[in-house]
Amino acid sequence: MGELPHKRHTMFKKEDGSLYREQVMGTKGFSGIQSILYHHHFPTAVKEADYLKDAVPEYEAQGALQHRHFRTAAYDKKGDAVVDRCYFLGNEDVLIGVVNPVETMNYFYRNSDGDELFFVHHGTGKIETMFGEISYEPGDYVLIPIGTIYRVIPEDNQNRWLVIEATSAITTPRRYRNEYGQLMEHSPFCERDISGPERLHTYDEKGDFEVVTKARGSLHRHVFDHHPLDVVGWDGYLYPWKFNIRDFEPITGRIHQPPPVHQTFEGHNFVVCSFVPRLYDYHPESIPAPYFHSNVDSDEVLYYVEGNFMSRKGIEEASITLHPSGIPHGPHPGKIEGSIGKKETLELAVMIDTFRPLKTIEQAKEYEDESYMKSWITE
Ligand SMILES: [Fe+2]
Repeated sequence: MGELPHKRHTMFKKEDGSLYREQVMGTKGFSGIQSILYHHHFPTAVKEADYLKDAVPEYEAQGALQHRHFRTAAYDKKGDAVVDRCYFLGNEDVLIGVVNPVETMNYFYRNSDGDELFFVHHGTGKIETMFGEISYEPGDYVLIPIGTIYRVIPEDNQNRWLVIEATSAITTPRRYRNEYGQLMEHSPFCERDISGPERLHTYDEKGDFEVVTKARGSLHRHVFDHHPLDVVGWDGYLYPWKFNIRDFEPITGRIHQPPPVHQTFEGHNFVVCSFVPRLYDYHPESIPAPYFHSNVDSDEVLYYVEGNFMSRKGIEEASITLHPSGIPHGPHPGKIEGSIGKKETLELAVMIDTFRPLKTIEQAKEYEDESYMKSWITE
């Protein structure tokens, strides 16, 4: 994207004869995916560095092991896409929260602890990044790679996102990729469904520009002496991209298909799955609703987007449920019988399964439906 020299690591001159500044940005010590970017200014030209604060959320003390339900729609604070995130659950691998971004960020941000994945529930806008600009609309998953400098420019006041912050890379499922990295025919989506930045806007401006960096679990503030989005060109494999949940092609069968058929992404110790409108199982005696199951070694989080979720009652749009490891969970009373003979579901939901226990963040309790644990009891 943009302008590049013919050969990497060779002179790339501006019109005045001075050099553009080349930056190799990649992961795993030059062995992971990487890109090469060309800047107007030194990416290291920082006038100030300040420690802002510890960014590890305050977790609640361990209580009784039970199913939890949080009505995140009740979090109605509107603000910017970073500082106004409200986190609900987290552990060493992942942080899960929501945000209602309606304000344009007047600073830039980079998360240098891992990749970020946004699920746009409502709203439209664009994200300006050092790799170019990416627009978003409802249903988009937007992946921002580790260390990418960006700012969010919402285009309406309806923006509502689910935010997943990893301390690792977030990728497509390994089992859907061949030895060359290409998505295979049995994958529920392919490269054509994925898109990167649409345009590269280069800001060649001097002045003070604030970049907030999340690193080592803390927030830091750096003041650049130039606009940080000063890239004239880049190529490579590390860049932000998006995939819309409505482009996920559901895998269906004669009998109930297990949750891995919904898998869309994976990170270290967690997966992200998409439950999309689909035809139900077609065995004449099939039960479309899931069976009871024991997540003996994983925690299961569901974020309900829209539609009548087939196995639940008392759930509303933007609800988050946590079904923790160690105890079984399953459909609410009546939902198994109710699913029999149904031909399709219009449900839309995002699921995050973690392989290490999640902890509830203290502020999440404000949005909790405490009756949820007992919602399987029948009179
Ligand atoms: Fe489950």
